Amino acid sequence: MLLDFRRKNAAGWTIGFPQPQKSLFAFFLAFSIFYTCMLLVAEQSLKSSHAPLASNITILLWHWPFNVSYSLSGDVCLRDYGISGCVLADNRRLFESADLVVFHHYELKRHKEQLPLHHLRPANQRWVWLSLEALGTNERLHRFNNIFNLTMSYHPAADITVPYGKLLPRKSTERNFHVAKNKSFEACWVVSNFQNRHKRSAVFRELNKTLNIQLYGRFVKNSLPKEALLPTISRCYFYLAFENAVSPQYITEKLWRNSFQAGTVPIVLGPPRRDYEAIVPSESFIHVDDFQSIQALADYLKGLIIDPERYNAYFRWKQRYTVKLYTDWRERLCNICPIFGRLPSNKVYEDLETWTKQIVNMKQMLPKSQGVQ
Ligand SMILES: *[C@@H]1O[C@H](CO)[C@@H](O)[C@H](O)[C@H]1NC(C)=O
Ligand SMILES: *[C@@H]1O[C@H](CO)[C@@H](O)[C@H](O)[C@H]1NC(C)=O
Ligand SMILES: *[C@@H]1O[C@H](CO)[C@@H](O)[C@H](O)[C@H]1NC(C)=O
Ligand SMILES: *[C@@H]1O[C@H](CO)[C@@H](O)[C@H](O)[C@H]1NC(C)=O
Ligand SMILES: *[C@@H]1O[C@H](CO)[C@@H](O)[C@H](O)[C@H]1NC(C)=O
Repeated sequence: MLLDFRRKNAAGWTIGFPQPQKSLFAFFLAFSIFYTCMLLVAEQSLKSSHAPLASNITILLWHWPFNVSYSLSGDVCLRDYGISGCVLADNRRLFESADLVVFHHYELKRHKEQLPLHHLRPANQRWVWLSLEALGTNERLHRFNNIFNLTMSYHPAADITVPYGKLLPRKSTERNFHVAKNKSFEACWVVSNFQNRHKRSAVFRELNKTLNIQLYGRFVKNSLPKEALLPTISRCYFYLAFENAVSPQYITEKLWRNSFQAGTVPIVLGPPRRDYEAIVPSESFIHVDDFQSIQALADYLKGLIIDPERYNAYFRWKQRYTVKLYTDWRERLCNICPIFGRLPSNKVYEDLETWTKQIVNMKQMLPKSQGVQ
C-alpha cells in the first residue's frame, strides 16, 4: 500500500513537485481559479451598478446667472460639447448627489438667492464661487468666508478658469481672410453704463473731439438688437473695447465679439498690453496706453483710416486663427468635467476678499493654470 502510494507519488515527481508542494500547488491553482471567478463576478456587478454612478460627474447650478435659464434636458454636455459622463443640473433636489455645486455671485450679492447653509454638505461635495466680473470690483465678500472650496473666474489664478474667448489656430493658413469693407464710421462704442468717474469716459470724450464716434447702447438710448450688433459694428474702422473696470487679465467679449467677430480693430482700455499679448497677437489691437496722449492716439487712428495697407495689417492674424467666444453657461459648466480630476480637494476659501485683492495686486504673470479651454 505504502509502496503503491509512493509509486503513484513517484509519478508525480515527473513534473518535479514533492508531495507537499504538489498539494500546495493544487490548492493555489484552485484558489486562483476561484479568486479569478470572484473578481469577474465582482467586476460584472460593478459594471452593472456602481461604475456608471462613479463615472458621472454631477454639477449642480444652484441658480442661473442673471436669472436667465436654459434647457438642460437630455445629455447636454455630450450632445452639444462632446463631453461624456458629465451631468448638468439645476434641480436642487439633486443636491445630495452633486459633486460640485456652483453659485453665481451676482445674485448672492444682491440677496436674491441664498446659500443652502442649512443643508448638510456631502463629504466630498465642493462648492464653487462663480463670478466673471472684474475681480477687484467684488466687494463685501466677508460673509462668504469659509464657505467655498473652489473659484471659477476669467482669471488664470482661479481653480477653474473660464475665459471670455480665445483664438483657435486654423488647420491651414487662410490666404484670403475677410477684411470688412464698407466702413461708414471711424469708431463705434456700445456703452450702457457711462459714468464720468470711469477713465474710459474721459478717454472717449477726448477721442470724440477728433474722431467721428458712433454710440450705441442704453447710455444713448440706442440699444442694438442682438442680431444687428455685429453687422452694425462691422461698419466701423475701430471699436472702443473699453473694459468697465481695469483689472489684471480682465478682457471680455468687448474684444472677442464686439471687435474681433465684428471685423473691426479694437482700441483696448483695460489691463496692460502684456495681458492682451498673452492671449492674442500683439498686432491685432491698439492699446490706449501705447500713446503719450489721447490726441496722439486719435492722430494715429486717423492715419490708419487713410492707409488701407497699414489698417488691413491689423487683420493679418485672421490668416492663422479663428475666434472662439464663450457665452453659454452650459458650455462653461460642461467644460469643468474634463478637468474635474485635477481640481484641488480639501481646499477652503477662508478669506475670499483677500484672495481677490491678492490677484488684483499680483504683479507677475501667472503660469498657465488648468483653464477650461
Ligand atoms: C450618467 O449620465 C447620463 C447622461 O445624463 C445618463 O444617461 C446616465 O443614465 C447616467 N448614469 C447614471 C448611472 O446615473
Ligand atoms: C426669475 O425670473 C422668473 C421669471 O422668469 C421670476 O418668476 C423670478 O421671480 C425671478 N427670480 C429672481 C430671483 O429674480
Ligand atoms: C454698406 O453700408 C450701407 C449703409 O451705409 C448698407 O446699406 C449696405 O448694404 C452695405 N453694403 C454691404 C455690401 O454691406
Ligand atoms: C461727440 O462729439 C460730437 C461732435 O462734436 C458731439 O455732437 C457729441 O455730443 C459728442 N458726444 C458725446 C457723448 O459727448
Ligand atoms: C469644502 O468647504 C467646506 C467649508 O469650509 C469644508 O467644511 C469642506 O471640508 C470642504 N470640502 C471639500 C471636499 O474640500
